[in-house]
Amino acid sequence: MRIPEEKIDEIRNAADIVDVVSKYVPLKKAGANFKALCPFHHEKTPSFVVSPQKQIFNCFSCHIGGNVFKFLMEFNKVSFVEAVKEVADEVGIPLELERGDSGRESEREQFYEINVEAARFYSDALLKGDEGKAAREYLEGRGVPTRIMRVFGLGYAPDEWRALTERLDKRGHDLEKAATLGLIGKNDRGYYDKMRGRIVFPIFSTNGRVVAFAGRATKADDRGPKYVNSPENPIYHKSSVLYGMFHAKEEIRKADSALAVEGYMDVVALWKSGVKNVVAVSGTALTEDQARLLSRFAKSVKLLFDADSAGVRAAMRSVEILLREGLSVRVVSLPEGEDPDSFVNERGAEAFRKEEENARNFFEFMAGVYEKEGRFADPDSLAEAVRELVKPVAFVNDDLKRAAIIKAIAERFGLRERLLESELEKTTRSTRRERRPPEKQPTRGKSEPTDAKPSPRERDLVKILYEGERRALDFVFDRVQPDEFRHSALRALAAEAYGIWREGGLPTPSNVGERLHNEELERMLYDLAEMNYDYSEALDAMGTVNRDDVVYFEAIDTVKRFKVDRLDKERSALAAELANAFETDDQRRILQELAVMDREKKIAEEEFEAIKERARNAE
Ligand code: UTP
Ligand code: MN
Repeated sequence: MRIPEEKIDEIRNAADIVDVVSKYVPLKKAGANFKALCPFHHEKTPSFVVSPQKQIFNCFSCHIGGNVFKFLMEFNKVSFVEAVKEVADEVGIPLELERGDSGRESEREQFYEINVEAARFYSDALLKGDEGKAAREYLEGRGVPTRIMRVFGLGYAPDEWRALTERLDKRGHDLEKAATLGLIGKNDRGYYDKMRGRIVFPIFSTNGRVVAFAGRATKADDRGPKYVNSPENPIYHKSSVLYGMFHAKEEIRKADSALAVEGYMDVVALWKSGVKNVVAVSGTALTEDQARLLSRFAKSVKLLFDADSAGVRAAMRSVEILLREGLSVRVVSLPEGEDPDSFVNERGAEAFRKEEENARNFFEFMAGVYEKEGRFADPDSLAEAVRELVKPVAFVNDDLKRAAIIKAIAERFGLRERLLESELEKTTRSTRRERRPPEKQPTRGKSEPTDAKPSPRERDLVKILYEGERRALDFVFDRVQPDEFRHSALRALAAEAYGIWREGGLPTPSNVGERLHNEELERMLYDLAEMNYDYSEALDAMGTVNRDDVVYFEAIDTVKRFKVDRLDKERSALAAELANAFETDDQRRILQELAVMDREKKIAEEEFEAIKERARNAE
């Protein structure tokens, strides 16, 4: 199903987000905006804002945001196309939907539609068909009631070669696309079902769309792997999805803590028993994206991996990744031979919660592992082990916390704190070096993207890019290129705006958001739109009533601060280098560079002041 882009634009432009949202949520006027209790999470004071001017909504507390379509998709749990239809109805724009397509948007929609069709097909086979009886009984035998099968959309893939293929074909889906999704394969005799005779776990995105499937073997004699998983595809990026996230996110937010386990069955079993803040990482270490996703909902994560060596290694790596994202980490261990699924089924949720409370600090967990490996036995391997133990501590951002951990490690191993601190100092320095390779003379301004905290300047600047003001955009892009942004997400947003600007368009959150196809970027964009900042104040202060002017002046200021900031940063890096330079030649070179930078900074400041003065006089 396809709606042409121009049509979508027409519909969006005709609609008023305030009208649409207020059909579902009671809105109260607050300055230029409207406020309400956020319908997407539980709260007592309103942080949900709708901006009529920008035609977007955003929740400052749960970070959900978007344009009118996004609101309907989230609120009514409908697809993009359905959301567009509803708005079209509302504003009275007739929609003739075309079959077949070219647009990116509708192509993705088709992938989702195929997945939904497949999920329904599998679910029916499990819950209704005779074929699925054995699978149903198997799940019941493991303590999964029908209700929970429904909650997680569990299904069964009939043990036939063309059951799903035929269903998809009959319903007019593009089989080539189904093959891209990994649902069906193709050989010289045509398409065939990939999953046969397996219990199927649909994998949902954080927003509840079916993006992939995992099929678990049911028969003991099954020769294939235990799980068959969907391949990476246009709507599924394994490394940024967590199984169970959609079901768990509210609970994770409430508990301000997530529990990460290994298996799909573990998630299902725990959820059923009432432990609902749980996600599965699917048998590997957490990825950076997954850690970042968790950090959106909670401040702490408990890891509960198998005690076998693969599980321990995965836990070790996950600890580091989580710490880097600023999360606090603890590790839960269950008695020998138990996994979360077996434990909670045998002993119940309360016993499980107790084990959870006994979670150890990450370094205690690591120390335990090293001890078991005998690495504390002789002095040489002890030193090495302590060094490794200290390494993740470098990622703990909180000074006090870090000091407490160092103290605890010192006590635990009878080591001097000073020794640990100097070890820590060393790793901190080397991780810093890893992150920022010493560049001799960098092409000024261009830099490698990072995911560290974005600088406020970069945020301010990207915000301006999405104000929809041509003069401000011209000003910025005449002076700053997208690859001058260091933060990778902000850089991506700047590049997106740049592309639109170069083609003569005007980027705004409302028209770009849905095209990004990246939740992280979208969220950032809407957060940036920062609707609680009211331009009217600035308008008053400047004695002008023209929004265009205000944004333009903002642009001048922000570009200046952006440039000066960067010069300052480079300057302090150089100054630090100077402190460490022993050779006089080195010192001389650095001093010269410093002088050049000071000059550049002064020139930049003067230049921008002059521009602003000229602009003011031109009014
Ligand atoms: P488990 O073997 O513990 O699976 O693997 P499980 O989900 O707990 O299933 P049961 O309890 O044995 O029935 C943990 C996770 O590793 C991934 C899956 O995500 C699984 O949930 N895995 C495992 C695979 O992707 N492929 C495999 O062949 C095995
Ligand atoms: Mn298991």
